[in-house]
Amino acid sequence: NLILKSAKTIGVLVPNIANPFFGTFVEGVQSIAREAKFIPLVFSANKDPKLEKYYLSQMIERSISGLVIASATMTTATIKEVISFNDIPYILFDQNHTQDGDRVQTSDYLGGQIAAKHLLKLGHKKIAVLTSDNPTENLNHRMNGFKKVIEKSGLTIIDSHDIIRAPLTKAGGYTAAKEVLATGASAVFAANDEMAIGLLRGLHERGIKVPEEMSVMGYDNIYWDDYVYPRLTTVQQPIFDLGAGATKMLIERINHDSDEARVQSFPVKLIERDSTGPYQ
Ligand code: RIB
Repeated sequence: NLILKSAKTIGVLVPNIANPFFGTFVEGVQSIAREAKFIPLVFSANKDPKLEKYYLSQMIERSISGLVIASATMTTATIKEVISFNDIPYILFDQNHTQDGDRVQTSDYLGGQIAAKHLLKLGHKKIAVLTSDNPTENLNHRMNGFKKVIEKSGLTIIDSHDIIRAPLTKAGGYTAAKEVLATGASAVFAANDEMAIGLLRGLHERGIKVPEEMSVMGYDNIYWDDYVYPRLTTVQQPIFDLGAGATKMLIERINHDSDEARVQSFPVKLIERDSTGPYQ
């Protein structure tokens, strides 16, 4: 059958398809896959290793041509024992800290530094951090970059009470509002936009004006940022390009298996909107 022979599939494993970050990422995947006549099969395993293993075995049974792994739960052992063992080309995306193989990434450390510099420039001296209760390696880099700039400034310190941990979701940000307020900070850096957006609602319900009483800064630049009130200031990751770049690299790997492992880095930058303002 001619049609089946020409329709090759690539698997895409994401942690959370409900986060617009991964919707845009998959759009990037599709844009390249389509041109090269590959069909993407997308799976969202919500950080559940069992579910992820199940999807993986299903993909192997269907003899996928390659895998984009945008998930941190995929361990080095699974990659070696299952993916490499079955000779499946793969690309790792930022969250995964497995060192071997091709990967696309952004500089999370630099992104964290950019966020800190923005808040310091606005004159904030007491700054809180809202991060994941189960952070992936890249989130740690992001927060370390942030803290480094704050510490070096000598103007302020972030002690352990100023670091709030919650699930990396809208609900996580929403429920953390009370704790964020209890720090007495005038600005907060959230580990991703989803959390920041949840936090905006939590603050609003407590009568807090953003940015007058509290500046809120996110990370990612998901497309919702332009549609929340106030519009969210963030650090942009080129999400579509990351998906497209990963897929391009994967297809190159599928076609030329003998090349050395490659790492491609993408830039980050500040997107200033209305949720951050001068210290008052
Ligand atoms: O919002 C999702 C997060 O997961 C992003 O910040 C991205 O870097 C990924 O690790």
